[in-house]
Amino acid sequence: MKELIDKLKENRTLSKREWVALIEGRSPALADYLYDAARSVRHRYYGHDVYVRGLIEFTNYCRNDCLYCGIRKSNSNVSRYRLTEEQILSCCDTGYQLGFRTFVLQGGEDGCYDDSRLGSIISDIKTRWPDCALTLSIGERSYDSYQYLYDAGADRYLLRHETFNAGHYARLHPPLLKAEVRQECLWNLKKIGYQVGTGFMVGSPYQTAEHLAEDMLFIKKLDPQMIGIGPFISHHDTPFAGHPSGTLELTLFMLGLLRLMIPKVLLPATTALGTIHPKGRELGILAGANVVMPNLSPTTVRKDYALYDNKICTGDEAAECRNCLERRMESIGYHVVTARGDSLNI
Ligand code: SAM
Ligand code: FES
Repeated sequence: MKELIDKLKENRTLSKREWVALIEGRSPALADYLYDAARSVRHRYYGHDVYVRGLIEFTNYCRNDCLYCGIRKSNSNVSRYRLTEEQILSCCDTGYQLGFRTFVLQGGEDGCYDDSRLGSIISDIKTRWPDCALTLSIGERSYDSYQYLYDAGADRYLLRHETFNAGHYARLHPPLLKAEVRQECLWNLKKIGYQVGTGFMVGSPYQTAEHLAEDMLFIKKLDPQMIGIGPFISHHDTPFAGHPSGTLELTLFMLGLLRLMIPKVLLPATTALGTIHPKGRELGILAGANVVMPNLSPTTVRKDYALYDNKICTGDEAAECRNCLERRMESIGYHVVTARGDSLNI
């Protein structure tokens, strides 16, 4: 199997059959070999720097009913909230003082935030903090809407494709949502000029090594600036309540593979990874990741943005999260930096 890792290092891609063989044939020794290679590539381009993004979860209203998601429309046990523009700006203000130079506005697909309302929030943030990058993560919208928000000042967009395989996608989503529409959105975002992030859950229900191989091929083709992956974690109020969560081991392995496939990509060690293991984010960095995304949302609403059970950091102030992550990164020889942290994969 080591020869497949060497081949990936050399060619930056593999065939579907080779991806499947590598994923199915992984072992602890192979993983160590992979992480060594992934770290050396990461150090070549990003040194020991870790970029931070301040995540603002500004609405948990959502028109969708994704089967895995704790804030899906039909979960009537969720206490719904929307942050006002003043609250969002106040999160950014706190974040800026803490050294954040990227803000991520994430939320459910909430019709209340139409283009003009979002556009004015975006342009206010960009006017007050012109040295910061603004990332949106608000799901599927029309080409014109993406263009409008880009023109208002948004720089980046995160939209995980979730799973490339249409059949698998259909088992995770209600019939109205289609894999190809999600993928089309990503191509549109790219065309408009956003720095684009995609990604998938590891260990989502019914996922196979073939599905993961197809995800790798799709990501290679899209050639995004960022890739967000994390383990699927079940939520007790969803149809997938009884399904086992994704593993730390497979998530780390996929992070290492992604780093080798697209060396200059931005790769977060996600909150979900930190949720399934107390040292998940540190291990993610050691497997090739170079970004962490602490929460800037007001503590009063944190627990209401529960995508999955036992989500970490729901009670901590922004400053505590920032300092905690800084200590965690220092403990493994990496340093959180105050920078926009643009992708070198352009
Ligand atoms: N509505 C936006 C969208 O559709 O991209 C952004 C919010 S959505 C909750 C952000 C991401 O959370 C999804 O892309 C999904 O991969 C992840 N997610 C949702 N439920 C999850 C779960 N149970 N376990 C792990 N990740 C989950
Ligand atoms: Fe919409 Fe999860 S179903 S954010």
